[in-house]
Amino acid sequence: MKTSIYLDHAATTRLQPKALEAMLPYLDGHFGNPSGMYALGRQAARTIDNARSTVASLLGARPREILFTGPGTESINAAIKGVASAQKQAGLGDHVVTTTLEHHAVLHSCEYLEKFGFTVTQAPVDRYGIVSPDAIAEAMNERTVLVSVMLANNEIGTIQPLPEISRAVRARAKSLGRSVVLHTDAVQGANALDLDVDRLGVDLLSLSAHKFGGPKGSGVLYMRRGTPFLAQMSGGGQERQRRAGTENVASIVGLATALEEVQSHRDDYTSACRGLTTQLVEGVLRTIDGAKLTGHPEMRLPNNAHFSFEGARSDTMLDALDKLGIAASAGSACNSATWEPSHVLAATGMPLRRAVGALRLTVGPENTAQEMELVLSVLPDVVAASRAAAARHE
Ligand SMILES: Cc1ncc(COP(=O)(O)O)c(C=O)c1O
Repeated sequence: MKTSIYLDHAATTRLQPKALEAMLPYLDGHFGNPSGMYALGRQAARTIDNARSTVASLLGARPREILFTGPGTESINAAIKGVASAQKQAGLGDHVVTTTLEHHAVLHSCEYLEKFGFTVTQAPVDRYGIVSPDAIAEAMNERTVLVSVMLANNEIGTIQPLPEISRAVRARAKSLGRSVVLHTDAVQGANALDLDVDRLGVDLLSLSAHKFGGPKGSGVLYMRRGTPFLAQMSGGGQERQRRAGTENVASIVGLATALEEVQSHRDDYTSACRGLTTQLVEGVLRTIDGAKLTGHPEMRLPNNAHFSFEGARSDTMLDALDKLGIAASAGSACNSATWEPSHVLAATGMPLRRAVGALRLTVGPENTAQEMELVLSVLPDVVAASRAAAARHE
């Protein structure tokens, strides 16, 4: 059945019409390689320069500090592996601090570093998924070279107090007499949050275009001037030797167009999405016994409504919703064979019996109040059927 209500905007978003329009010429006639020494190539290079300036000004950065990468995952890998290995090579240390709530792009990059002699400390989060600036500062030591804390969580929508975390990192680094680089995975933040790198106080920031109406497979890494870095991609000299490979001109144009569009409409986005998620949260908590909202009641992305339904199972709920034409998510891939809970929910201390009944509904501004009503009208039966099926299998 065709999906008629799309509630999985944290997974990906539809390409914005403006981004598509901006991309089309570069998928057709303007096909030049930006390294080409002729008009077609120079035109592509100029297009990338313009996109770089646009992104830089939206982040309050200099154009030279912007790298275009493949997906958000690549941006994060480059940030963590590229900076940590440069610091280690310079003999500056080999310890990385992150949190228990991060996306696997961060956690698995850190695990990779452990294979090469790094140690990693995961600072804990509270029951809302918030990490305290003190917890990050306490996790740092005289060997710390890098701290990575996400701006907003993809599963439960919790927003971290990045400016305060940055101040705590700077103060602790000063007392340790060292310089520590701060990275943020801002992949889920671009639609609703201010990405000014000085206000956030970060040295590295990762974005992914398909989360904000840009094309899939296209990302950004902001890298503050002077940040030590070993390129993770070897080859040609593109992106000032920091990311080899012929640039994906169409995707870069689409990313910059989409980012400009969402960043200039953040307030409208926030109020439209907040209205819809408030409707969902109030409706679910009123009509479904044992339903709980996950994450922080206020410090959360406006488009995220994440619930746990004790006694239910994510996969049977998602299956039933899909049959009704509603696209939703459990928040992360849940291993239905073993019922392993999401690491994010486990990090918040949610008991397993609740975590296996997680449901994430992430709206976009194009969703409507009528759609939310429809979802609210079917959800009680979907949860009840899932609970009944789970009880039969126990
Ligand atoms: C918080 C977060 N970080 C990183 C990523 C990875 O981004 P991409 O899918 O562009 O590789 C995602 C995507 O789900 C995400 O939500």
